[in-house]
Amino acid sequence: MSERVIPLVDHRMSTLSAAVPSKAIPATGLLGDTLGRPLRDLRISVTDRCNFRCSYCMPKEVFDKDYPYLPHSALLSFEEITRVARQFVAHGVQKIRLTGGEPLLRKNLEILIAQLAALRTVEGLPLDITLTTNGSLLERKAQALKDAGLQRVTVSLDGLDDTVFRAMNDVDFPVADVLRGIEAAQAAGLGPIKVNMVVKRGTNEHEILPMARHFKGTGIVLRFIEFMDVGATNGWRMDEVMPSAEVVQMIHRELPLVQLEPSAPGETAERWGYADANGQHDVRAGEIGVISSVTQAFCSDCNRARLSTEGKLYLCLFANQGHDLKPLVRGGASDEQLSSAIAAIWQGRSDRYSELRASLPPDESGGGRRVEMSYIGG
Ligand code: GTP
Ligand code: 5AD
Ligand code: SF4
Ligand code: SF4
Repeated sequence: MSERVIPLVDHRMSTLSAAVPSKAIPATGLLGDTLGRPLRDLRISVTDRCNFRCSYCMPKEVFDKDYPYLPHSALLSFEEITRVARQFVAHGVQKIRLTGGEPLLRKNLEILIAQLAALRTVEGLPLDITLTTNGSLLERKAQALKDAGLQRVTVSLDGLDDTVFRAMNDVDFPVADVLRGIEAAQAAGLGPIKVNMVVKRGTNEHEILPMARHFKGTGIVLRFIEFMDVGATNGWRMDEVMPSAEVVQMIHRELPLVQLEPSAPGETAERWGYADANGQHDVRAGEIGVISSVTQAFCSDCNRARLSTEGKLYLCLFANQGHDLKPLVRGGASDEQLSSAIAAIWQGRSDRYSELRASLPPDESGGGRRVEMSYIGG
């Protein structure tokens, strides 16, 4: 079907060490990287498996029955994850997102959520704990997740048309089940709910308006994501990227929009509100977001760290190597040593891939060595 070249190389093995610095780095919550960016957001991948095969993330030809997923013994336990997360929180993390693969495939995830919910920020406040899911198991699990202390969910949904949706998840999963999952999450109070739609030109751009109409006025924030060149297997091509500016124009023609201020520093999405007859934001009609990692990079205040399922710390979504924390976690390092090692890694961070993409030579931006998003999470 496709003439694209899909490199089959496993980059998970290539690892940077996580050394304990000779002088302890105290956890003040004020850590900065080489560009002065603080550490605020920790994304924890709890499994590298998923029951969907979205072509932009886990194409079937690569993630088949022979794909070498991580063995159970390689995964960090919930206790290990919580211990690592506690050190991050002491360095200033305020938001934790659980991702995958599909995080709801990890057994007893509620136990981890309850452990994380007990952590407090440097200011003594509860963390913002959220989860990214494809929604397939949400109807069944929403209430238990809420009871465990999860605050909100973000659901991936690439279209409302059942045929389009089944083709995009590539496992023939019906859209109605995901919509029921979103309703269950709303009923359980897991809000404000966000819905993330990856837009691929030529595949689902005709779903943009139906999605906007469907979620307008529901309290759910729909966000349109530019198809990214993340990972090494999704056959990314610039001509399949629909720039966010076009998405905004398309919606604005039918449902007028006004631009809103960012709600937090370092945010991924640019916010647009539905306008009333006077051109003011109609709060009841709600808002949408656009995430423009390709056409308008947002690295300059990126405060996100990513912890892989097996305990490697990635400093950028596009990184090709992670810093392995597991030897410290399992090798008898004290909390102070672990904390200092994490701090030293963040202090050395200079990653800003999306900003540099445009100026990289083709073999550097081609993605042959990058880690998969299903492995480090969105
Ligand atoms: P909220 O706190 O709910 O606003 O979440 P968020 O927007 O920070 O996180 P989410 O995981 O929902 O991000 C949405 C999408 O933006 C992801 O699925 C990615 O496609 C993209 N994204 C998130 N973080 C980054 C990042 O650091 N760099 C790039 N390039 N893209 C990102
Ligand atoms: N481009 C943009 N977003 C992606 N995601 C996964 N792969 C890509 C990609 N190539 C994001 C989607 C999905 C989440 C799990 O990861 O937002 O909802
Ligand atoms: Fe699974 Fe989400 Fe990746 Fe789709 S985008 S394959 S649902 S992890
Ligand atoms: Fe952050 Fe890397 Fe994404 Fe830039 S490309 S916003 S540095 S994760």
